[in-house]
Amino acid sequence: MCGIVGYVGPKSVESVLLVGLTRLEYRGYDSAGIAVIDKGDLEIRKEKGKIKDLEKLLHANPVEGSIGIGHTRWATHGEPDRVNAHPHADTRRKIAVVHNGIVENYQKFKAELTKRGHVFHSETDTEVIPHILEDLLSQGKTMAQAMQHCVDHLEGRYAFVAIYEREPDRLYFARNGSPLVYGRGHKEGFLASDVSAIIPAAREQVQIENNQWGWVTRDTLHLHNGTGTELPVTPVKIELKLAHLDKGDFDHYMLKEIYEQPDMLRRIIQARMTDDGKVEFPESVLTNEYQGRISRILITSAGTSWHAGMIGKIYLENFAKIATEVDISSEFRYRNPIAEGDTMVIAISQSGETADTLAGIHEAKAKFCRVLSFVNNTTSTIARESDAIIDLRAGPEIGVASTKAYTAQVLNLLLYAIHLAGIKWLISKEDRQIMFQEIRKVPQKIDEILSRAHILKEWAQDFRETKDFVFLGRHYNHPTALEGALKLKEISYIHASGYAGGEFKHGPIALITEEVPVVCIAPQSEVYEKMFSNIQEVKARKGKIIAIHSEGDEQTPAAADYSFAIPQAPDYLNPLLAVIPLQLLAYYTAIERGCEPDQPRNLAKSVTVE
Ligand code: G6P
Repeated sequence: MCGIVGYVGPKSVESVLLVGLTRLEYRGYDSAGIAVIDKGDLEIRKEKGKIKDLEKLLHANPVEGSIGIGHTRWATHGEPDRVNAHPHADTRRKIAVVHNGIVENYQKFKAELTKRGHVFHSETDTEVIPHILEDLLSQGKTMAQAMQHCVDHLEGRYAFVAIYEREPDRLYFARNGSPLVYGRGHKEGFLASDVSAIIPAAREQVQIENNQWGWVTRDTLHLHNGTGTELPVTPVKIELKLAHLDKGDFDHYMLKEIYEQPDMLRRIIQARMTDDGKVEFPESVLTNEYQGRISRILITSAGTSWHAGMIGKIYLENFAKIATEVDISSEFRYRNPIAEGDTMVIAISQSGETADTLAGIHEAKAKFCRVLSFVNNTTSTIARESDAIIDLRAGPEIGVASTKAYTAQVLNLLLYAIHLAGIKWLISKEDRQIMFQEIRKVPQKIDEILSRAHILKEWAQDFRETKDFVFLGRHYNHPTALEGALKLKEISYIHASGYAGGEFKHGPIALITEEVPVVCIAPQSEVYEKMFSNIQEVKARKGKIIAIHSEGDEQTPAAADYSFAIPQAPDYLNPLLAVIPLQLLAYYTAIERGCEPDQPRNLAKSVTVE
């Protein structure tokens, strides 16, 4: 949610910033801008739209220099236009600031500063920051003192980077809540919302923590804590490689990531499941003794991760026999969840930066619960603030609509439930090995589904003008229905709702007409007959049926208008298979409708505001 990047070093700052912003575009893409100190003068270029629009502007009106900051925006305060785009400057245009987050008390500053003659141009909260810095400098304070003042007085979540015309060798920064990383290259320094923006030039990183501030020069990082004490810094090697961020031969990251799922699941299986029937999570520091005592689990997560959490609940209750509740993160913290006995909180987050989920973790900690996080970014804020983590091992996910992180979440949750069941002696080693045999077959089954992707591509042509979709599933596939609907909404902008099959007759059935396709997820399982009843109910009302069914089932395709077979599997593995055709259906429908699947309108991949 907004991406920021800063650079000081010998290279062309314009191109370093543009490359960084392009890699951060997943965090927001409604406007973008850069500020550079060009031959002693602060120059700002900003534009509504995507980075390529900013590039055009820079082509016509370039800037040069060796220090600069850049921003790609997901609007919170003020509509996405050029005036509200970052960087923002002070009245005399000597200081420029890029910011990710929300300054909650900006109105108070804006009112005070306006009275003192400061002129504001935008509707943003961010613009107060350069004005506060300017005000303090005019009172004789140094930039360092002014930064300390900001850390003391700004409320809300922020990561911001500032440059000052009179100090053209340093990037000032402060962080509270929103992610910020320092990167060190060869005689060059970087700051960014995440390391993907600054590799391969940056080879080592330091994660900036809350309430820390300081400045970056070509050679080093000067880091201070909230009380102004200078801190030692220990950079660590950046493991992420550029090849991880490449789209390869695919048209979109989303499609690439859909196709990466079989190999990704193979890697997770290989890393987690031992030949003697054990599941291993070496990165988790929770002891077996503690995990054997857990009496209740509360899961908190958002979006696609919430759907994975819903399946996780079924796994944890079925296999580990632990009462589990699952909440949307933004609701979790307000419902004052009861945390008695050995209640553990599980947070699930691909990015590890979702503000709502982070707030849920703070709520859990306030109730003295231990927090285990399933994250795809092990250096993220959620990872750092949790008691223990499970690494999803999905690899970088760039497409805004989550695909491979979801299946990685579902598989890791299943394996964790089996792990807990093992600790509690609820599943014998022999039964675990039978489950393992089935789990090991999943990647091959997904390969087989992907080999028939052309079927979904053809179907998508029929849905170019469709206005509404309904998705139905039961038990393990109720969350699959929600996820299928979410994918379609996110990237094709077709209204879609997912329901539990049993709930259909209690209202949603009123939506059914010939115009409304109903995706019925009906693989063989103990709820198959009930799902087949749903299919009959839709058929009786002339709704169009799109069925996802098990291979070998002849009854369902005979009743459906469109049918796609998935390989047979035990019911607990069906969600991993059934979601694949739904991801492809969403992707190809978006393409048919001329939508951009990797950057859907109004969305951002990492949502760092509440
Ligand atoms: C955003 C993304 C979704 C994602 C959700 C939760 O809304 O667009 O794809 O599922 O955030 O993100 P997280 O990183 O916490 O899994």
